[in-house]
Amino acid sequence: MLNIRQEKASDAIAREALLDAAYGPVRFEKPSQRLRGSRAPARGLSFVATDGGRIVGTVRLWNVMAGPNRPALLLGPLAVDPACRNRGIGADLMRHALRAAARRGHAAVLLVGDLGYYSRFGFSAEKTGELWLPGLGDRTRLLGCELAAGALDGARGALHAPERQRRRLLNAATGLIRLPVPKAA
Ligand SMILES: CC(C)(COP(=O)(O)OP(=O)(O)OC[C@H]1O[C@@H](n2cnc3c(N)ncnc32)[C@H](O)[C@@H]1OP(=O)(O)O)[C@@H](O)C(=O)NCCC(=O)NCCS
Repeated sequence: MLNIRQEKASDAIAREALLDAAYGPVRFEKPSQRLRGSRAPARGLSFVATDGGRIVGTVRLWNVMAGPNRPALLLGPLAVDPACRNRGIGADLMRHALRAAARRGHAAVLLVGDLGYYSRFGFSAEKTGELWLPGLGDRTRLLGCELAAGALDGARGALHAPERQRRRLLNAATGLIRLPVPKAA
């Protein structure tokens, strides 16, 4: 039976295998992956879909800034086991993740992906035309979904990591602090 639950640290190996199967090694080169870097995902916003206890889908959300002074979430990667596609698992994960993000008070979600898939969940490029993700060639693939009406009005600027997390990474790089190993949720 299909179940969606919070990701756990012990899911790591199965989740990595699933992402390899879905995206291949190119996943490490994606601009959105570079933005996520070695940060931890947003609190409480990493989910896996399981079927008979086996991990068959994954989605995570990350805190980002969409230009100056506009907190948002970046969704991804979303992946479903190739053997389990077209059963609505991707849609279940998306809707579960978006509901959870709204419950936690987040106002907007961004992602890089195919409009043909993500428009069904409320994503569009309507308000993302003035946003950019460093390294992303095709800017029309940057899509947004407002969880609070108007949250992306006038959005402009580069997507970047929140300052607090950037400072922590810089301090870790220079040896000023030791970061814990990132874990889900
Ligand atoms: C995209 C993905 C998560 C969808 O998972 P899924 O569980 O098969 O999705 P669902 O069952 O909810 O939806 C299937 C529908 O989405 C459509 N779909 C899947 N990928 C699509 C895409 N890139 N663009 C447009 N439609 C797409 C399917 O054709 C199917 O259409 P139908 O409902 O008319 O039959 C899965 O195909 C996957 O992991 N792909 C590899 C990773 C990837 O490319 N992710 C990002 C997509 S931009």
